[in-house]
Amino acid sequence: MNIVIKPFTEEMIPEAGHLLALRHKRNRALLPLLPTRFEELSATTQAVETLWKKKFKNGHAAYRDGRMVGYLLGDFTVQSWGRCGYVYLPGYALADGEKATVTQDLYCALGEDWVKQGVFSHNLYLCAADANIINAMFGLGFGKERVDALLDLGTAAIPETETPPGIMIRKAGAGDSDHLGSLSDVIMRSLSNAPYWHPTLPEEWEELREGWAELADDKEWTVWLALENNEALGTVGFRPEQENPTSLLVSPRTTYLSVAATKLKARGRGISTSLTWQGLEQASKDGFDICYTNWISPNLPASRFWPRFGFKDVAYRLSKQVNPMISWTRTG
Ligand SMILES: CC(C)(COP(=O)(O)OP(=O)(O)OC[C@H]1O[C@@H](n2cnc3c(N)ncnc32)[C@H](O)[C@@H]1OP(=O)(O)O)[C@@H](O)C(=O)NCCC(=O)NCCS
Repeated sequence: MNIVIKPFTEEMIPEAGHLLALRHKRNRALLPLLPTRFEELSATTQAVETLWKKKFKNGHAAYRDGRMVGYLLGDFTVQSWGRCGYVYLPGYALADGEKATVTQDLYCALGEDWVKQGVFSHNLYLCAADANIINAMFGLGFGKERVDALLDLGTAAIPETETPPGIMIRKAGAGDSDHLGSLSDVIMRSLSNAPYWHPTLPEEWEELREGWAELADDKEWTVWLALENNEALGTVGFRPEQENPTSLLVSPRTTYLSVAATKLKARGRGISTSLTWQGLEQASKDGFDICYTNWISPNLPASRFWPRFGFKDVAYRLSKQVNPMISWTRTG
């Protein structure tokens, strides 16, 4: 019997939750650091329900012989570069034994909804264990843009770290807002370089600086600073990552590594290596079991750096830009 694609409705949530629980169980067999709770129907049903409650959602489900064998749910948000459609990790599942062409067909339906609504930036978060679906999406013109990764702090071999000569490493605190603010442009500059060329609007720069500066006083964050002659040259920050109904990557006692940056003039001296190992060691001592981080895969300094610490890919964001001219060139 052929596949029938239908628009997603609220009544489909339990069946979708069932498919998601099975998918997560298969994913976890390959990636054991994924959280256990999403093998439970109650958690996956809640995850799908949460996505379906979003304001600007679209979704479709695939049926064979009256049984749901796949679904794809997305929603769009407005960014400074336009309307962007996202399928988050709980937003898809495919029954065991079904071909990834089903997910391709579901994307045709979802993507068509998006294009009709002026959404030309299409983004899919997919579990790294779903290689067949990832490949099927590459076949539709998607590319890998972001990597989400986990590190098992229980088994990580954290080496003795040597602080680079002339550098002082310490935790940031009140009074360090200027130090942190001075590092706020490092990542956006890296993202603007080849081969990503990602623009950050000048109107956003000051807000970015304020956000980094505020980390100095934020009790939730543990931020490490590397200083030389009282100038901040690098930083790495950690905060507890909260479990929520859709966080398919987050187990209890997970810490999130972010705001990692070394000024261009100080790169390659071992500053970030030293900050990162010290931060991971402290996180482990503080009772965290897993460290989560993510990076933009075409941001080469980052994507060549993090795997060295033992971070393992667990999910990807695939992206595709549709040419907006399709809005007025298509007839009928
Ligand atoms: C990623 C980043 C934080 C690394 O910072 P860094 O302080 O240069 O890192 P390190 O010096 O510890 O390591 C960088 C390189 O120097 C090497 N290195 C480490 N210690 C060294 C030492 N004592 N002497 C010479 N080289 C050294 C490392 O092996 C690494 O090699 P690679 O270039 O082949 O990857 C930095 O490139 C950066 O800020 N990039 C832009 C912002 C960014 O992308 N941030 C991450 C967002 S996810």
